[in-house]
Amino acid sequence: MKSLESNKIFAAILVAGIIAMFSGFTADILTSTHDLEKNAVEIEGSDGSTAPVAKKANLPEPVLALIASADIARGKKVSKACAACHSFTKGGRAGVGPNIWNIVGANKQSKEGFSYSGKLNQQGGDVWSYAELNKFLYKPKKYAAGTKMNFIGLKKATDRASIIAWLRTLADAPASLPNAAAIDAENAELLPAPVEEIVEVGAEAVEAIEEAVPVSH
Ligand code: HEC
Repeated sequence: MKSLESNKIFAAILVAGIIAMFSGFTADILTSTHDLEKNAVEIEGSDGSTAPVAKKANLPEPVLALIASADIARGKKVSKACAACHSFTKGGRAGVGPNIWNIVGANKQSKEGFSYSGKLNQQGGDVWSYAELNKFLYKPKKYAAGTKMNFIGLKKATDRASIIAWLRTLADAPASLPNAAAIDAENAELLPAPVEEIVEVGAEAVEAIEEAVPVSH
């Protein structure tokens, strides 16, 4: 009788243990599925913009095609992130950074009264073309290692397009808008060639199938 009682208790503890293990296990599955979903969302919607997304690592999305119709008012808002260091008015003073009135199409490092790092023209020529501004404003420190511009950069393509479009208006004679050739050149530089990509993905799929299903020769 006594031993039957303790057997029951033992069985109860065992069952409780199994339930605890199982629910812990289920909870693990649930959380990991949740993590997967979370990651998937982050990868999918990097900035929620409709701009084409660059597939090449470390390069920004192209923006030239967006500039003609960019939201200039938005650009002015974005410029608040720059105003601690830059003045934007004609004849404005240099601060932590140079005055950037009339910067689109201007020579790099050419504003008077500012002592530049000398690093900005080490790639991409001497002129602030739309394409160079896009790359610089995406990640200044990546664009020019050693630049004095201590700014993390603008991740969103629409923000870069907007501020560049706004900067363009700050000139006596605004630079002409990007033409088709410039847009194509930017896409060619920043986006992977679509045909190549399709061929690559196809070849990878064939490889994967061949690995999974051994073919007898
Ligand atoms: C923390 C200060 C700081 C912030 C914020 C900042 N900049 Fe700069 N910027 C600088 C400095 C300093 C330089 C000079 C870089 C060098 O000499 O390497 C510079 C250089 C530039 C140049 C090149 C100027 C030339 O004459 O060649 C442009 C264009 C520019 N910044 C635009 C911007 C824009 C647009 C923003 C905001 C989105 C911004 N910067 C935010 C400090 C800043």
